Amino acid sequence: MPGFATRAIRAASRVPAAPQAPVNVPIYQTSTFDVGSALELAELLEFARPGHSYSRYSNPTHAALEDTLAELEGAEAAHVTASGMAAIHGVVLSILRSGDELLIPGAVYGGMVGLARTVLARSGISVRAVDMTDLDAVAAAISGRTGLVWAETISNPTTAMVDIAALATLTHARGIPLAVDNTFASPYLCNPLALGADLVVHSTTKYIGGHSDLTGGAIVGSADRVSAAREIVINVGGNAAPFEAFLALRGLKSLALRMDRHSSNALAVAEHLEGAPGVERIRYPGLASHPQHALAARELRDGKAGGMLALEVAGGRAAGEHFLDLLSVAVHATSLGSAETLCSHPASSSHRQLDDAQLAGAGLSPGMVRVSIGLEDPDDLIADLAAAAAGAAS
Ligand SMILES: Cc1ncc(COP(=O)(O)O)c(C=O)c1O
Repeated sequence: MPGFATRAIRAASRVPAAPQAPVNVPIYQTSTFDVGSALELAELLEFARPGHSYSRYSNPTHAALEDTLAELEGAEAAHVTASGMAAIHGVVLSILRSGDELLIPGAVYGGMVGLARTVLARSGISVRAVDMTDLDAVAAAISGRTGLVWAETISNPTTAMVDIAALATLTHARGIPLAVDNTFASPYLCNPLALGADLVVHSTTKYIGGHSDLTGGAIVGSADRVSAAREIVINVGGNAAPFEAFLALRGLKSLALRMDRHSSNALAVAEHLEGAPGVERIRYPGLASHPQHALAARELRDGKAGGMLALEVAGGRAAGEHFLDLLSVAVHATSLGSAETLCSHPASSSHRQLDDAQLAGAGLSPGMVRVSIGLEDPDDLIADLAAAAAGAAS
């Protein structure tokens, strides 16, 4: 009979047969899989047969999330990653080579600028910023070196919206693919692929997870494009973790309900705070005063504009920072898309590298606070945010 250690290891590795399917996708917390032959392993590593070999390549819990995201975005395929940044990196590096240029929005998630400065610059890929809401400016900015155009459905943090269908028509006429970061809208409010985009990325850390308890990302699109991006992700080790994938799956079950509530809460807050004491300006695509309000009505499900708003506190940078000290319901924290209302001050956090002139160039102001409206009772949020704005400005 084998010794104790051998028996313990063999017995503890036996996966129970489950005649009744579990209602939730199990967490396949395993880094590797028992394969039948050398040929089988070789084919699995090349994705030339269905199945899994090693969790940096694929894993059943990841696959369940990938299938779900592909279905919800109306795509052929998806690949999930360790973070939204790993997804963005995978997409950019799968399309661009040294000498190419990436066109990004002037108002864009700060991590994109960090990626450009640290990784893309070393790879010989240059980055050019343009106002993506101005299609003439985009057309003028495209050069012979432009290999990819990047957009955010709703921009972080200004909430500017791009006309994805028009942008796709423009870039495709020049033979350039369009990738869209759909994190702020989520697949419930917008499906950029249906509007003509070639690839979609998500930070699943945000609305898809929905509870500030996971870090993850996803690449969604045609099988060919996703497989090219997957190759980059696998080779830099940007794979998702099975537990995080499980949490994202759980989050997706309530995404529609949560986005409805985020949207109605944010609209109530935005309507109340517009013109309120201490509030210089509020930008929310659901407000008639938003420059892309008509586009939001067309591009987002039933005109629901999600939970993100940009609140400009009167009094500039100091007032924007002080606003955060006065909150009692909302939380001063980075990130977004969660049950809790989260507030941050881009000028001193995500965009801290920019001086006031550069902030203005990116459509930001020093007093702007980014608010991710949560799922709390709207009256409590209105009272909290209104008091903080009035207090910070006085
Ligand atoms: C619009 C957007 N895209 C991508 C990311 C990056 O996601 P992660 O932090 O999961 O890498 C973020 C993070 O805040 C974001 O707001």
